[in-house]
Amino acid sequence: MFAKLMNQSRSYFDKNQSGQINSRMTNDVETLSGFLGGSISSIIFAVLQLFGILFVMLYLDITLSLISFLLIPLLLGVTLILRGPIRRIAQSRRKTIADVTSNIAENISGAKESKVFARERENIKEFERVNRENYKISMKSVSLFALIQPAVSIIAAIGTMLILAYAGYQAAALGNGKYTPGLIAAFMAYLARFFFPIFTLSMFYNTWQAAVASLERIYIFLNEPVDITDEQHAKDLPIKRGEVSFENVDFSYKEEIPIFKKLNLEIESGTMVAIVGTTGAGKSTLIKLLMRFYDITAGKLLIDGQEIKSYTIKSLRSSMGLVPQEPILYDDTILENIRFGSPDKSVEDVIEVAKLVGIHDFVQDLTDGYQTRVSEGGKRLSMGQRQLIAFARAILPDPKLLILDEATSSLDPISEIRVQNALEQVLKGRTSIVIAHRLSTIRKADKIIVLEAGKVIQSGLHKELVVKSGKYQDLYLKQFFTEKQQEKILAKISN
Ligand SMILES: Nc1ncnc2c1ncn2[C@@H]1O[C@H](COP(=O)(O)OP(=O)(O)OP(=O)(O)O)[C@@H](O)[C@H]1O
Ligand SMILES: [Mg+2]
Repeated sequence: MFAKLMNQSRSYFDKNQSGQINSRMTNDVETLSGFLGGSISSIIFAVLQLFGILFVMLYLDITLSLISFLLIPLLLGVTLILRGPIRRIAQSRRKTIADVTSNIAENISGAKESKVFARERENIKEFERVNRENYKISMKSVSLFALIQPAVSIIAAIGTMLILAYAGYQAAALGNGKYTPGLIAAFMAYLARFFFPIFTLSMFYNTWQAAVASLERIYIFLNEPVDITDEQHAKDLPIKRGEVSFENVDFSYKEEIPIFKKLNLEIESGTMVAIVGTTGAGKSTLIKLLMRFYDITAGKLLIDGQEIKSYTIKSLRSSMGLVPQEPILYDDTILENIRFGSPDKSVEDVIEVAKLVGIHDFVQDLTDGYQTRVSEGGKRLSMGQRQLIAFARAILPDPKLLILDEATSSLDPISEIRVQNALEQVLKGRTSIVIAHRLSTIRKADKIIVLEAGKVIQSGLHKELVVKSGKYQDLYLKQFFTEKQQEKILAKISN
């Protein structure tokens, strides 16, 4: 199941909440293992016990046995009454437990935001609500199970009464010498144990059903189609030149809301291309298509002149280096975090790239150096430090195509310039795509593409675009100049 989860595509994680996935991988598996490990052995035990007792009872006295059997329908009646409620409560309980666990998980991951908005009290209230629901259902379940023992005991007591009455009457009134105190005592001892195995067997249906339901969910999980997989004809070819072209590409996350419609753009081999545009324009989405986290819905996406699907996912992604908008570090050492995508690289290689991006001195000043653990998500580092580590991680495998999505947004101007210089060194003759809101970082790009609402509205060199009236000029002027200065500059250009 874990392997299946690892192979799922990104859209699977958009659609399914982690609480649900968690519940499938723990609760359902536990139900099934409880069934296989516990219920089956208790059933075998009950069957053996039942037949053993039955044999001895019949051997001791057939008439008394037949009297005891009269109570079996009563017992089955009780199980029939309890069966429905037990099943319903078990179902509700699975849901309330899942609610409690996902509420806890959500509040741990959202703890920082809760603090910012002082939401603690509301969160506690909400937790109390889901917890109380679970408590109520659990109490119902406990009460119901508490009924079972007395009910079965009462039936056994009725049986004892009948046996005593019959055997006593036979012995005392009719002088039947067969019913000695020894026989009656022995029979009653067996009778007392006769009903529980019958009850266990009749309740087996419930555990069986719960196990089948869990098995079904596990089966669905394992057979859920993965929408991004290697095509049959895909080849294990690394990308050589890093040339990209989008030809009439359509894409949408949800059918109703198209992100790209007939998108066309070209990225030539060995060039640095910058993509700018307003928030939500589709810049990060473009990258996700290029890494094949999602598949395009129409048109062609070519890399080195070949359809993206003709590469295996592994060869595709390992030829690209991505520094994402929100870098995620793992609860591991800085060394291993940098080596994340290329575990076979040596410590020297890691130090070399760390020097290149300018994080080496900082790491060395830490008490444990490269062996410092960064905690889950990199919580112990600043955002800029995380970005630099993500940067080192992306360039370590020597990718043919390097993609930076707002990768320097948290850096101070000096570190940013250093990273840019490093980039120029690293990427000589390689292709890079840089997404940036700060236009100062992209002036040197070989081509600037302006994306707006999923369309390329402008493209060209900085010096060309800045003198043309349009989105780029607008963005550029607003970023660097006051309104008065803007007017002057525009007047100069139009002259
Ligand atoms: N997983 C997703 N499911 C559905 N819609 C999404 C998803 N990710 C992004 N979108 C939508 O796609 C559009 C483009 O998003 P994208 O992240 O590409 O923007 P962007 O240009 O990178 O913006 P920013 O500058 O803020 O990073 C947005 O309208 C966004 O709401
Ligand atoms: Mg983005």
